[in-house]
Amino acid sequence: MTDALLVESRTDEAAAWWRQAAVYQIYPRSFADANGDGIGDIPGILSRVEYLADLGIDAVWLSPFYPSALADGGYDVDDYRNVDPRLGTLEDFDAMTEALHARGIRVIVDIVPNHTSNRHEWFQEALAAGRGSAARDRYIFREGTGPDGAEPPTDWVSVFGGSAWERVEDGQWYFHNFAVEQPDLNWANPEVREDFLTTLRFWSDRGVDGFRIDVAHMLTKDLSEPLPSRAELALLPQDGSHPLIDRDDVHEIYAEWRRVFDEYEPPRTAVAEAWVSTPERRARYASAEGLGQAFNFDLLVADFDAAQFRRIIADNLAQATLSGSSTTWVLSNHDVTRHATRYGLPPLDGRAVKQGTEWVAAGGPEEQLDRDGGRRRAHAATLLLLGLPGSAYLYQGEELGLHEVAEITPEQRQDPAFFRGGEFDGLGRDGCRVPLPWTADGPSFGFGADGAHLPQPAWFAAHAVDAEAADPASSLSLYREALRLRHELQTGESLEWLETGRVDVLRFARPNGWQVVTAFGTEPFELGSDAERVVLSSLPLVGGTLPGEATAWIAPGV
Ligand code: NOJ
Ligand code: CA
Repeated sequence: MTDALLVESRTDEAAAWWRQAAVYQIYPRSFADANGDGIGDIPGILSRVEYLADLGIDAVWLSPFYPSALADGGYDVDDYRNVDPRLGTLEDFDAMTEALHARGIRVIVDIVPNHTSNRHEWFQEALAAGRGSAARDRYIFREGTGPDGAEPPTDWVSVFGGSAWERVEDGQWYFHNFAVEQPDLNWANPEVREDFLTTLRFWSDRGVDGFRIDVAHMLTKDLSEPLPSRAELALLPQDGSHPLIDRDDVHEIYAEWRRVFDEYEPPRTAVAEAWVSTPERRARYASAEGLGQAFNFDLLVADFDAAQFRRIIADNLAQATLSGSSTTWVLSNHDVTRHATRYGLPPLDGRAVKQGTEWVAAGGPEEQLDRDGGRRRAHAATLLLLGLPGSAYLYQGEELGLHEVAEITPEQRQDPAFFRGGEFDGLGRDGCRVPLPWTADGPSFGFGADGAHLPQPAWFAAHAVDAEAADPASSLSLYREALRLRHELQTGESLEWLETGRVDVLRFARPNGWQVVTAFGTEPFELGSDAERVVLSSLPLVGGTLPGEATAWIAPGV
């Protein structure tokens, strides 16, 4: 190979790091608390870089750490180009990034472009400047209806419940798709567009490798009069022309962002959080001219079921071919009931994932939840997921086999979804956001010196990092070994399904011969002589047999 070609292929490789990366999501307020104020912080992350390196992940994604009143766990951003003083400083952020990079771990930050917080200087300016002002045009202000305009412009309901409009002192109303404290931005305003380019460059210049884009499918809106009613809105197709969701014109924004990402070497990456109606529409967000990758949330609403997994895997691989991107896999994140708990509850059978929390809410976890079974199935699913082509997004605490925490009183809860009902009804999302247990003993299980901002249950002790690190049969040991081996075995972005003779057993081979077998049912699966090549399994083999509800990885033959 000539020098020029060598450099080029190295550059391509560096630019493609994300395609099959294992990305670990950190929810900063609940990861590690360095100064003992009960809130996780950036120095806390810095203090755990060794842990992240030992885990074997390729990148971390940090949920928002920006200044915020925490009306929605930090997704209400006061200032996009700063660190919340309770979480540290920009210098702390730089030190953390440097330490992660030194261990070969890339850094992805969360960008929240659909809305700011109501404390953002733009929104404060908009309130002060009054109707018709340039400051109000950065948001979506409308006159109300009815006598004196005292009724909201429409009967639309926000995602967290309650009206999607809030009235301000001078009588106008502003639109908020999420909490009242999260006014939606007007993306038809050039200043809004320009400011986010500045933010993307700000973090890229600080060495950030990529971005996770919050509600990427909702930025552009067509709010021309007459506005449809809530009932009319629900009937409109989400085919690119819907007034609020997944509009075709949103991709103009991402084409502009792509040009910014490509100013950097290697280009910055992005992954869209886009809850859209079809795989084809999702592929648009993942295109190389746009954000480059999009989350596939299909497994969040699936049961631990062979047919559902097979359909979802096949659909998403086909979709990756459509977009030219790689597939993404997610079993847990900060918005849903942890997968160990989902799989320990009665099957969802097509119901929405939020029902998982409702089950826990209904009768208390001990009566409803099969804790061991849920964790066993979660390990099998995770091992399958880590064997798939594409990138895997893991959520902090899942490596410890944590269940959703149900033992949080209403007074202790923080999630606006809990207080307002809405799409995340039931107990809301606090149960997966409880600070991590690092040590089996000591205050707040080693999270920090003085308590945790959400209560940690006594059963966390058995799942503390120090307890699990010492146990070769623990969840943590399984994740570490899987992530280590994944680096060795990872290969081209495809798979071939292999016949198993059983509807409840999935088996596939990757291009280098690496095989993954999952028995979804309780009946064991005979591996025959392949058992000799098993390099990892979520439950120990019994002779040459894979127990039910387990996954095995089989190394390529010689
Ligand atoms: C999606 C985020 O994941 C969620 O936590 C947040 O509440 C909404 N977007 C609003 O920003
Ligand atoms: Ca702290």
